[in-house]
Amino acid sequence: MRGLLITFEGVEGSGKTTQALRLVEYLKGYEFPVVFSREPGGTQIGERIREILLDPESKGMHRLTELFLYLASRNQHTREKILPALKSGSIVVLDRYADSSVAYQGYGRELGEKLVSRLNKLATAGLRPDLTIVIDLPVAVGQQRKAGGSPDRLEQELIEFHERVRTGYLKLARRAAGRCKLVNGDQPEDQVALRIRELVEDFLIRKGVIKK
Ligand code: TYD
Repeated sequence: MRGLLITFEGVEGSGKTTQALRLVEYLKGYEFPVVFSREPGGTQIGERIREILLDPESKGMHRLTELFLYLASRNQHTREKILPALKSGSIVVLDRYADSSVAYQGYGRELGEKLVSRLNKLATAGLRPDLTIVIDLPVAVGQQRKAGGSPDRLEQELIEFHERVRTGYLKLARRAAGRCKLVNGDQPEDQVALRIRELVEDFLIRKGVIKK
């Protein structure tokens, strides 16, 4: 049996990493194998690319260079880790994947959805998530949550950039409503987790992986 790919997406401070890890813990209660990973990163090569991307010292990076680096990390991740895990029947949970490039580089950097999607197809070897949880919340709320830490290169971007990213995600979620489930992230963590669990359980029942 081929495994299943579940991805988490959202703006800064949406709580997606926390929620992805909570879901992984929950899924470990079942007998199927679960693999957790993140982008950029997920492999040794990818983690090195991640450092370049997030380093505030990389502020002179051209937007196409940025896109290519995210894609390079994704290509390595897909072929080295994700596809083999899916082949062996795992449920793979990812903290960000190809939709992040559509939202951040396509909309945020205004490179356009078409170009990013075309290149994503190469970097993902045509792989599409079976389920995507998009956690939405107002940009200002997300930024407030992140305040106090030392912001990485992307977090240092202007509010307008993050607004475009959010708009990109909302468009995507509307258009790919079958695969993408929009979750309101502007509520207590436990409530968000509960909603995600419901969505994932429905999905796993539909796929015949668990029984009602
Ligand atoms: P992440 O570690 O998920 O940061 P956070 O938890 O703060 O959201 O992602 C790192 C940053 O990289 C984040 O600002 C989003 C950005 N990003 C892109 O711009 N394009 C991409 O394709 C990916 C995967 C991430």
